[in-house]
Parts: sequence; structure tokens; C-alpha cells
Amino acid sequence: MKKIKVTDDNRLLHGGDYNPDQWLDYPDILKEDVELMKAAHTNTFSIGIFAWAALEPEEDKYDFDWLDKVIERIHSIGGRFIMATPSEARPAWMSQHHPEVLRVDAYRRKQLHGARHNHCFSSEYYRKKTQEMNTKLAERYGDHPALLMWHISNEFGGECHCDSCQNNFREWLKNKYNNDLKELNHSWWGAFWSHTITDWEQIESPSPIGENAVHGMNLDWRRFVTHQTIDFYKNEIKPLRELTPDVPITTNFMSDNPEFVPFTALDYSQFAKEVDVISWDAYAPWHTDQEDTATLASRVAFLNDHFYSMKNQPFLLMESTPSLVNWHDVNKAKRPGMHFLSSMQMLAHGSDSILYFQWRKSRGSSEKFHGAVVDHDRSKDNRVFKEVAQLGKAMEDLSDCVVGYQRKADVGILYDVESDWALNDAQGFGLKTKKYGETLQKHYQMFWENNIPVDVISKETAFDPYKILLIPMLYMLSEETAEKISAFVKNGGTVVTTYITGLVDEADLTHMGGWLKPLKEVFGVEPLETDTYYPSDRNSVVYNGKAYEVRDYATVLKLLEAESLGSYEEDFYKDTPALTKNTYEKGQAFYIGARLSDDFHRVFYNELIKTHDLKPALEAKHNRGVSIQARKAEGKQTIFIMNFTEESQTLLLLEEVTDCLTDEVLGGALELAPYETRVVEKRI
Ligand code: GLA
Ligand code: GLA
Ligand code: GLA
Repeated sequence: MKKIKVTDDNRLLHGGDYNPDQWLDYPDILKEDVELMKAAHTNTFSIGIFAWAALEPEEDKYDFDWLDKVIERIHSIGGRFIMATPSEARPAWMSQHHPEVLRVDAYRRKQLHGARHNHCFSSEYYRKKTQEMNTKLAERYGDHPALLMWHISNEFGGECHCDSCQNNFREWLKNKYNNDLKELNHSWWGAFWSHTITDWEQIESPSPIGENAVHGMNLDWRRFVTHQTIDFYKNEIKPLRELTPDVPITTNFMSDNPEFVPFTALDYSQFAKEVDVISWDAYAPWHTDQEDTATLASRVAFLNDHFYSMKNQPFLLMESTPSLVNWHDVNKAKRPGMHFLSSMQMLAHGSDSILYFQWRKSRGSSEKFHGAVVDHDRSKDNRVFKEVAQLGKAMEDLSDCVVGYQRKADVGILYDVESDWALNDAQGFGLKTKKYGETLQKHYQMFWENNIPVDVISKETAFDPYKILLIPMLYMLSEETAEKISAFVKNGGTVVTTYITGLVDEADLTHMGGWLKPLKEVFGVEPLETDTYYPSDRNSVVYNGKAYEVRDYATVLKLLEAESLGSYEEDFYKDTPALTKNTYEKGQAFYIGARLSDDFHRVFYNELIKTHDLKPALEAKHNRGVSIQARKAEGKQTIFIMNFTEESQTLLLLEEVTDCLTDEVLGGALELAPYETRVVEKRI
């Protein structure tokens, strides 16, 4: 594992994407940049992300002089750079002379040159050119003292359906199915609609004008796309690993936007294994008319914990905006104070950086109104610049009590992207109400409200470090995972699951003979039917004497060993169990059969937190909307107390802590202004 240099000199990274190649005709701007970088208390810049046309203006004619100068300027003010490889966007000459680099879409239409991120992953020429470019970058900058890490391409995504990608898909399938079409046909349930494949050449990637109904194939295609993308990435990093073995490598991950749920185009749990440092681009939709700030904050927290858990180590926030974006339906500016608060939240959940897209607003083209540190006014006196500088100063002061500090959780929630793919593909249930990612976020929220940290893990993560494992809506559940869950509960773990769990195996074939045996044993129930509701349908479940509303889904259950904790009030399954608890060997298993309201989850999980004696990092009383999150080091922890409401909040701290910035000792009543954060230290 490569060591992140940031931990060597203990600085939090502040800065972001710097695109000087847009300003090469404006020497005064380039000079001004370094002055403003100092004024903004920034120290790290990702450069070269979209610079291919400037670095290789003609085929095999390179120009690095401008980049040398930019790097020297950054170095001269004590800054570092993250060197990007420019493969996301190609120069026009390349598409003109080597059209094989262009993607073919799912309709089998060859794409024209344009936009970005539309290269073919199989193109031999493109693979060769990216290696050549990366070799040159590594030779020229690999030893530079200000080089911090490599940033490979940008936000990998998309897919290509050209002939050579088709061939690669077929080869991948041959390998997976042992060159045996019988195996493949079985896995894809080929007899259905006469979809039996009798020659590998008959296989074509999924298409709206072709095959799209074979779920097993759709699933394999998504797996292949992840494989192919990682393979392309591995091709890119080969020269970097050879020439700069000590320089860490990252690529910027993202979320699915604008929903702000885990990214679904690739399986990041696989990609994460190939990078040294996780980094991601967070564009949270603050201040929408859809949800309150606190609810969104818990969803941001979820995604941060997802990225932290991928390698169980601090990550980098590679891109964010200090103000607004240009691609939401409504591009609202962060209100005063929100930038500081939202950035502190990133640090609280394990980021060692706050980096922006982008340093300076473009003058033209599609992102000229996207927020940036430096606006078109070139001023350091506007609101956004001042808020960035204020944050930068605070980050300098906080570095010592954040960098190198870890996160630790007793609760794990499982997100499985393969299950997400399969569930979305499933024709059934409510087409608009599946919402797997959102459902996980709702369960997570109840721990967030209690300041109990939760890891967002994959099915490959070891479950035994956790006291509680949450597996809501785990539609695709293999026998292997079922055995793993069973072992976890046998050894004393508590597991909670819900409706639509455990219906299909890893090939997206339904389990035959009812629920898997280990699940029946662990949960002591068997799901019989899943009922799906119209938005106007209502039912309720009575739990501890109170009725809670059911929406969207209700499972009819058969009790085996479990006890019922709550029953339905209406419909043909009136008075039958909706919520169950089973004791299995040393552990416990809960099944929540219906999609129940937040107030149910609040009561249910509060009890679980109590019975498992889970304690927050800092004992305090406060209203909903305040979040307390901690990072730990040997013998001490740094605790972020954050007010995600538009009102002042008075907290009651039940322990004494010291403010990291002012050294003030805090205890008892603590007043937080709207959006205010206090960062405190506690000895442990
Ligand atoms: C039609 C078709 C059947 C089946 C059903 C499903 O009736 O003929 O093959 O697809 O729809 O409702
Ligand atoms: C997607 C990405 C965002 C951003 C926008 C720009 O939604 O997830 O990060 O790049 O596109 O259009
Ligand atoms: C993504 C991209 C950036 C920029 C931003 C805009 O994160 O990586 O280049 O387009 O979106 O939000």
C-alpha cells in the first residue's frame, strides 16, 4: 500500500482542479492565480485533467513547457500538485486521424468527436497513446518534489459497443462460463422466449434495439463493463507504477446524481482494490425544496462512510463546489456558512482534503457559470472567495488534529451494487418505488441521528468486527453470503433485514424451494408473498402499541421459530406478522416485512442502539439536525459538532472537551449558531 504523502507533512489538502491550459493566452491571469492561491489558503492543485490538446497539439509533438512553468509557480508558493492523466478528453486530431478511438453507443451508432469521456476502452491505438502520454508525464514530473499523487483520467464511466468491445465481451463470457454455452444458457435462462444461444458469435451486448430482456446477460454486461474499465485503467497506470513506484494513485469516484445515492455505472467495490487512495467528487444538493438540510446531511454522511469503508482508511474529496453547480435543475448557491459546514462534515467523516472543481471559473463553454474559487470578477473580496479563504485558514489550524485520524464503527450496512443492478432490472414490484440506495440511506439515518458511526460495506467485507449488520433490500443474495450472515449471527451478531431480500442468486436466478435454508434458520421466518402498493394504498403495523404507516411494500410472512413484534392492521394479511425477531444461537435476527415510516425506524433503531450499548463519541443532548462525528488517534479523538439546521441550537454536553481552534474548555450548555461547527478534542 502506498503511503499518502499528505500524512508525511501533516497538511490537510485544500485547492482543487486547476486548468491553466484554458488561460495560456492570459499571462496576467496565470500570475494572478498564484497570488490568489496564497490568499485563499490553498496548497494543492490537480492539473492536466483536460490538457491533452495543450500537451500534444499535433500527433507525437509534445509541449510541456507551459506545464513546467505552472508547476514551478505552484511549487514556489509551497504548494503541491496532483498530476492527472488527460485521457478523459481527447484532442480533435486524434478522432480525425484515428476514428477507432470513438465510442459506439448501445444503438450501434458511432459517436462523433465531442464533449468528453467518449473513448473506446478497447482501442489499441488509444491504449498505446495513453501509455505514451503517461510515460512522458512520469519521466518529466515523477521526481518533482511537489508531486503528491496521480489522478487517473476523470470520473470513469460509460461503455462502448463497438466490434472490438463485443469480441472482448464474448471472450470474457467464454472465460466465465468455461467455454460452455450450456452453462451460459442455464445461467441466462436461455430457454425463455427461445433465447438459447448456439454460437458465441450470436451474443451482442444489450441494446434498446436488440437484446435487453435477458437479465442474466444484462448483469454480466455490467460486470464486464467494470472489468473493462478497470482493465483500461490498469493499462494507463502501468508506466506510472514502473517509473514512479512510490507515488500513490487515485481516480475520482462519484455518486449517482442528482439522486445523491451510490454510483451504479461501475462496481466500485472492485475498482477500490486497484487504487491506493479513494477519492470522490461530492456535489450535494444543499437547500433543495425536496428535503430538509439535516436529512440531506445524513445522506452525505452515508456516501462519505461508503467511500471511507472501501479501503477502511481516510479518503480525499477530489472535487466539490464552493458555491453552486451548473447541472442541477435549479443551481442554488450554498448559503453563507454552508461551505464551511459541509466541508467540516467531509473532514469529520474521513476526508483529508477539500478540493474544488474548479480553481477559476471558465470564461467560455459549458461550465462558465459553474461555481469556482475565483469568479469572473477576479476578486478576493467576494463572498465565495472569502468563505474559501476562511475555510483554508481553519484547515491549516486543524491539520494536526485531523490528518492520520481514523474512523471506527460497530455497525455495518451492506450496499451491493450487483444487487442494485439486478433489482432495477427486475420487471416487478413497483417500477418507481424500489429505491434501494435511498432505502439504505433511511436506515442509516437513524444511527446518524444518534451519532453512532456506521460503515457502508460490501458483501466481501468481513462482518465479524460489527455488532450490528444491516442488510435492507438485499434482493440478490448468494448462498455464500447467506452462510456468512449465518456465521455472523451464530457468533453473537445482530442482523436486520427487510422486504425484497434474498430473492435471487448471483446469476439473478430465483432461489428454488423458497428462501435459502440459512436465511430461514437465522430469521426464523419465511417470506410468502410481496405485496406492492399504489401511492394511495394504506396499511399500518402495530408495534409496542402504536400504529406505523406502511408504504410501497408489505411481505406476508410465515412464522417458523421467530416471534412476531408487530402485525398488519388491514388487508387479507390482517393480524399476520409484519415484523419479527429471532434468537439464533448467540445472536439475533430481525425481519422488517414492510416499508415503514421514519418514526418507526426511529423507535426501532433507538432500542437496538440501547440494547447493544452503542455510545456516541461524545455524550450530549441535542435536537435533531445536530451531528456529532469523530476521528480517532492513539489516546485521543477529534470530534466535530455540526449544526445542520437553520436555527440556533443549544446542546447539553455531558462531558468536558477542548476546542481545537480556541483551546476553550467546553462542557454543559453549548450554543451553536445556524450552520455552525465546533471542532473539539477529547482524551480517551
Ligand atoms: C402476454 C404474452 C405472454 C406474457 C404475458 C405477461 O400475454 O403473450 O407471453 O408475456 O403477456 O403478462
Ligand atoms: C454527472 C456527474 C457530476 C457532474 C455532472 C456534470 O452528473 O456525476 O459529477 O460531472 O455529470 O454534468
Ligand atoms: C465533474 C467533473 C468536472 C466538472 C464537474 C462539474 O465532477 O469531473 O470536470 O465537470 O463535474 O460539477
